[in-house]
Order: sequence, then structure tokens, then C-alpha cells
Amino acid sequence: MKIMVVGGGGREHAIIKKLRKNSEVEVIYALPGNGGMTNDAVCTGIGAKDIDSIVKFAVENKIDFAVVAPDDPLVLGAVDALNEVGVPCFGPTAKAAAIEGSKVFSKDLMKRYSIPTAAYEVFSDMQAAIDYVSTAKTPVVVKADGLALGKGVVIAATNEEAVDAVKSMMQDKIFGESGSRVVVEEFLTGPEVSVLAFTDGKTVKPMISSMDHKRALDGDRGLNTGGMGTIAPNPYYTADVAKECMEKIFLPTIDAMNKEGRTFKGCLYFGLMITPDGPKVIEYNCRFGDPETQVVLPLLESDLLTIMRACADGTLAECEVKFSDKSACCVVMASNGYPQKYETGFEITVGKDVAAEVYVAGAKLSEGRVLTAGGRVLGVTAVADNLGAAIDLAYENVTKVSFENAYYRKDIGAAALRALN
Ligand code: AMP
Ligand code: GLY
Repeated sequence: MKIMVVGGGGREHAIIKKLRKNSEVEVIYALPGNGGMTNDAVCTGIGAKDIDSIVKFAVENKIDFAVVAPDDPLVLGAVDALNEVGVPCFGPTAKAAAIEGSKVFSKDLMKRYSIPTAAYEVFSDMQAAIDYVSTAKTPVVVKADGLALGKGVVIAATNEEAVDAVKSMMQDKIFGESGSRVVVEEFLTGPEVSVLAFTDGKTVKPMISSMDHKRALDGDRGLNTGGMGTIAPNPYYTADVAKECMEKIFLPTIDAMNKEGRTFKGCLYFGLMITPDGPKVIEYNCRFGDPETQVVLPLLESDLLTIMRACADGTLAECEVKFSDKSACCVVMASNGYPQKYETGFEITVGKDVAAEVYVAGAKLSEGRVLTAGGRVLGVTAVADNLGAAIDLAYENVTKVSFENAYYRKDIGAAALRALN
């Protein structure tokens, strides 16, 4: 089979490495891919948002199955366009991807179908939003409606900060049209859990739970990033919590999307907070999380391609989705300065004795050398019998990967380990 994966980060590298385990796979093309994954996929350089070129490539290369991984092409309708020319795909249609593409849509959906989430108000008028946040109970959460590279959320400690956030989104348009409407939300507390779930629109099969580390600095300080590391499973996601999530969140969400005429197929990501009143949805994503995927897929024992095809075909109920009972830890190595200013172009060296998966996110190939080319450069994932051992092994292997100006958090998994003990 000829497979194509749209995207070019660490998440896509993890997906590609797992897909390669299926012996039916002859070739995997990455669109665009990156210079650090050329041993695993043919990197085409075709941009992940260039829907016309993606479709053209799929037709010309007689692609048998496509995986669309990032949010942008999903929201732009890559799956719809590929299906139209007869290419089966893993991923939601644009209508279904609105669950991530518009926070207003997802909040209203949860309200209509009584899915637990933070109380909220929506504003399309800036003055009304300012009036509201000027007197709202703090901390208060201000979110841009549309996609904003995971940066469209401000937790305002004071009313003044909330007013500034509203102005930067609605007046200064720092996220462009994504900020033309804002959601103002009640601040919730509790540990966060990410649950990625396979679904064919009828059946939902959650993957092993994970924990992201979004802040740039140790101790969850510093700026929000795309994610500096992950562990799986998440100790806060107990069997009782999982049962409650299935009954009150996962199944009602699939059902709600069907009733809205927006059947969701693919990977639905539930960003959850385990509050004193039970689990609540912080956000939905219409795709695999990054870097959650880098700990979840290494623990998947069943065949990924078979599951993805079952999601597309509507036969997920009959398909085995089995995870190992081991633990995984992924430490992201970034360019120093990320998520703000950073330098790139430094050679990446991976020691021959690395005993971990290295998923490359931001790299380019130049005269046979792999050079850094992004903020998040790569993730080092180790799997071991328990969480403590996985963390130790991941950090041991991080020392065997090097590039100038590398930065990584030293405490990935520390909070999870404390929760276990
Ligand atoms: P999001 O992009 O919606 O996942 O938000 C980014 C981060 O902001 C989340 O991972 C949470 O840590 C935090 N956050 C978002 N909404 C809330 C909320 N209502 N209460 C507390 N924290 C929140
Ligand atoms: N790691 C969070 C996300 O993928 O949105």
C-alpha cells in the first residue's frame, strides 16, 4: 500500500514510524515531512495547508490511504477534498473539525448536550467583552474563537489583564480573524489529562491517557508552548474517572456530533480537567496531540494502519485497540529561546547507542547533514516497566542527542511521579 501522511512534526514522525510496522506498507510519503525523518518517509516538501497540491499528489501517486494529522488542513477541508477524488482518509471532515476550529461552536455544543465544561460567555462586540471581564471573578480565562497555534488562551489573574487580553485579540487582532469572537470562561482547577480517542463516528475507543507539560520552564512556569514533554499513562486518570468520562463526555460528544450532522471520524482529543466536581472538558482537538502522540503510539500494541482504516470504514467496533501496560516518557528538546526568539541551523547528532525513539519535529537536511530548523526540534521517548524508569531512561538518552543551543525541561513526569507516590 502507498500511504501519505499530511504534516511534518514530531507527531507525524511518530505516526509514520508506527504505520511502517504494517508489512503491507510499501512507501510512506510525508507532506511536507522534515529533514529529520527521511529514513522513515519520502519527504515531499508539499505544504500541509496547500490542499490543491495535496490532492494532486494523492491522485498522481495513486495513494491508497491518507492520514491528515494537523489541525489546519483538517479545518481547511483536506479530508473532504481527498474523499472527493476517492482517496480514503483518516481524519474528520471540515464540518466535524469545527469542534477544534471554533471554540464558540464547541462550547455551544457542550452546553446544548449537557457535556461538562467550564461556564462561559461568548462576545463578538469588544466593548461588551470589556465590560464583562472588568467585573468578572478572577482569575478569568479569555480564549480566541479560532485556531491560534495553541496560544489563544489567556489565564488573566486580574480584571486589567483580562481587558488587555480582550483588546489584543479583538482590537489588535494578534491572532487575526481567530480573535473576532472571544469566549470568556470560568477558571477551573484540578489536574489535566489528555485522552486521544479513535472513532469511526459510531464507536469510540480511547487510547492510553497522557499528561502534557505546556509551559516552557521547570515547575510549570514560563510561557505556554506547543508542549515540552509528555508521560503516559496519566496517574490521575483512574478507572473510575475513565468510566465517568466515557459516560458523560466521550459517548455524548460522538452522539452530539452525529445529531448536528457533523459525524466525527478520526482521532478526537479530549483535553480534560479533573475538577472537584468531576471531569470537565477544557478543549477538544480534532487530531492527535503533539507531543501526546509521541508517548501514546509507542505503547500501542495493535496495528495502527488497521485501526485507522477501520475508523475510515466504520468498522472500529470489530477492531482491536490494545495498549501495553508499560509507561512512556517523551522529553522535547527545543531551540533555546522557544517559544519566542531562537536560532536555528545547528547540526543534530544522535548517538549510535541511543536506546529510545527520536521523533524529529524541526529539522532540515543540508548537504547530508541534519540541521535544526524550528522551535521544538525533536522528542526523545523511552518506554519502560514503570513511570520512574521511563523518565530515567528518557533523560539518559537525551544526553546522547545533541545540538548547539539545545534546551529541555528537567522535570517532565515529576508531577505525575509525585501523584503516584
Ligand atoms: P487550551 O488551548 O484551551 O487547551 O488551553 C490551554 C491551557 O490553558 C489548558 O491546558 C489549561 O491549562 C488552561 N486552561 C484553559 N481553560 C481553562 C479554564 N477554564 N480553567 C483553567 N485553566 C484553563
Ligand atoms: N499538546 C497539545 C496539543 O496537541 O494541542
